[in-house]
Amino acid sequence: MKVLLTGREGQLGTALQASLPEGVTLIATGRSELNLSDAAACRQAVLEHRPDWVLNAGAYTAVDRAESEAELAMAINAGAPQAFAEALAETGGRLLQVSTDFVFNGAQGSPYRPDQPLQPLGVYGATKAAGETAALALPGARVLRTSWVYGPVGKNFCLTMLRLHAAKAASGEPLSVVADQVGCPTATHTLASACWRAIGADAAGGLSNAAAGNDTAGNEGPRILHWSDAGAASWYDFAVAIGELGVAAGLLERAAAVKPLTTADYPTPAERPSYSLLDCTTSRQALSLAPLHWRSALAEVLARIPAADP
Ligand SMILES: NC(=O)c1ccc[n+]([C@@H]2O[C@H](COP(=O)([O-])OP(=O)(O)OC[C@H]3O[C@@H](n4cnc5c(N)ncnc54)[C@H](OP(=O)(O)O)[C@@H]3O)[C@@H](O)[C@H]2O)c1
Repeated sequence: MKVLLTGREGQLGTALQASLPEGVTLIATGRSELNLSDAAACRQAVLEHRPDWVLNAGAYTAVDRAESEAELAMAINAGAPQAFAEALAETGGRLLQVSTDFVFNGAQGSPYRPDQPLQPLGVYGATKAAGETAALALPGARVLRTSWVYGPVGKNFCLTMLRLHAAKAASGEPLSVVADQVGCPTATHTLASACWRAIGADAAGGLSNAAAGNDTAGNEGPRILHWSDAGAASWYDFAVAIGELGVAAGLLERAAAVKPLTTADYPTPAERPSYSLLDCTTSRQALSLAPLHWRSALAEVLARIPAADP
């Protein structure tokens, strides 16, 4: 199977390369090989490589900055999947578009199912929602939504909190973290497994259609998948666990005290959903992947960070 990967240097892109299944020929692209804001280049890459799948892990992910760079965010997050979908329609390839819990507004107060209507709150969520629509115009495309992604490399909440725990514990100050936004952290290594399974690249060979039946194009399994680690957490809970498990993993001498904040205490340019848990029940069945609780996944991520790193 030939796979064209975007976002090679991103968190997910890195994990996907680290878990490359046997039999996959990977064309891994980063910004310097394929600029996702250039629709013609995206189309050309498909026509040139003729992949079985495009795995679009690259994205404009700066949620707050997107509020003032809407055009660029839209070009990358919606223009690129549209160009991929159009070119793949010509070559007969398929598309896995990675998306986000931020396509929902968080107001319903219970986990979101894959088939629920989208109501993004900010520019980033709106561009990712437009990317989903563009991708799904291709009959063989799939969308995989995830949430609160972090791993042992890249820019993410976990690595930031490890640094802040160390600094605040040393200065004796508390670490203040928002406690009224609830979702679920997702480790890049579990997400990468779900992506490979979603395109049928790993040893299991694809989705079980027992859970959701075939789509209108006759492709096995659901077209929209949800994948996050199991359980639920606020950013505050996640920060506390990073401190506790960071000490246990030998990455921190001591954890700082963590002080809960409200969203109103910590205003950001982009509004975020207050409750964006993804209901992964049918997707986990379709993917035949057992969920790992987010604390266990966190322990696994921390074990992959060299002790000098934070
Ligand atoms: N991070 C999260 O919490 C989160 C939550 C839910 C869903 N997601 C989704 O999960 C997927 C993977 O996210 P991630 O956390 O791995 O993101 P990430 O670490 O920010 O990586 C995104 C990658 O896309 C690349 N990129 C950005 N603009 C580009 C452009 N114009 N041309 C080519 N490459 C470009 C970035 O390259 P540069 O480093 O050069 O900018 C980066 O390597 C994305 O679809 C994201 O929307 C993420």
